[in-house]
Amino acid sequence: MMAAHNTSEASVFQLEDWSRIRLEQVERALEQWITTEPPVGTGHAAPAALVEAMRYSVLDGGKRLRPLLVLAAHEAVAGSELGAAAALRAACAVELIHAYSLVHDDMPCMDNDVLRRGKPTVHVRFGEASALLAGDALQALAFEFLTPEDGSVDYPTQARLCSLLSRAAGSGGMAGGQAIDLASVGHTLTESELREMHQLKTGALLQGSVLMGAHCAQPQAQALAALRDYGAAIGLAFQVVDDILDVTADSSILGKTAGKDADNDKPTYVSLMGLARSQAYAQELLVQAHQALYRSGLENTRALAALADMVVNRAS
Ligand code: IPE
Ligand code: IPE
Ligand code: MG
Ligand code: MG
Ligand code: MG
Repeated sequence: MMAAHNTSEASVFQLEDWSRIRLEQVERALEQWITTEPPVGTGHAAPAALVEAMRYSVLDGGKRLRPLLVLAAHEAVAGSELGAAAALRAACAVELIHAYSLVHDDMPCMDNDVLRRGKPTVHVRFGEASALLAGDALQALAFEFLTPEDGSVDYPTQARLCSLLSRAAGSGGMAGGQAIDLASVGHTLTESELREMHQLKTGALLQGSVLMGAHCAQPQAQALAALRDYGAAIGLAFQVVDDILDVTADSSILGKTAGKDADNDKPTYVSLMGLARSQAYAQELLVQAHQALYRSGLENTRALAALADMVVNRAS
């Protein structure tokens, strides 16, 4: 029995405590599901070297923000942690898309980075062709995760999750934003062009995570609209803060090469409006995120609120 629900001690939400058990679930699932075993119906095992590169890309690293957003949004809408098979699959699927985007983002043809999550990047460790293919395979595996054939996720939910994830990752989302990013090297963008680029390359997948989590339950229209706004606000804030940390943090804390944006002549919030205004803008977006949660009418939004704070106030 949770008798002390309204004491001040019990009502202080501890994100770390909330995250621990969920992160364990996510890690266990990723560890088990990225294997050489043949997917149902194909009869063909995956090449061990390719799976090794995929596992290297995904396991042992990263903040796992996107999976946590999926699970937090699901719990906010469901009002409980029950029925979480779809949410756990969605959480892992989003992380696979994210991991694939990082593998490709680091390649010499894009940002040309050698350090990621404190380790050599995938193309440095395994070669460029393997990095390309590991990314391709991770993207496909994300959609396998969303479409289990064991009856654990009903078909309408599978279709909805695939629809949300494909749109967040594709040419009108993450991949499109990456294309704009590459085309913008050496250019000065207007504020609205930069916002559009960041919304696509990073915001879309973060907002998609929130919406996927929500759709693992049955969201009301008002809650869904508010969660969409929350996702948009933290999605953009996340990349604003990523731009800031590239300037203010050390490689050892970031686990990736600091100062890379200036080296690569990328337009960023810091290059456009300076550090102080970028920081103020991130705080403004955080307020918008909290306001959206308030508008949602949902009761169980403490994890989403704490994740928003983490997005903006993080050190890495
Ligand atoms: C880095 O994302 C790439 C961006 C979209 C800015 P994260 O900062 O979430 O990377 P990990 O997953 O924690 O390594
Ligand atoms: C990457 O943005 C966004 C992705 C879709 C991977 P960045 O290029 O700024 O990400 P980092 O700083 O390398 O993690
Ligand atoms: Mg990049
Ligand atoms: Mg990069
Ligand atoms: Mg960056």
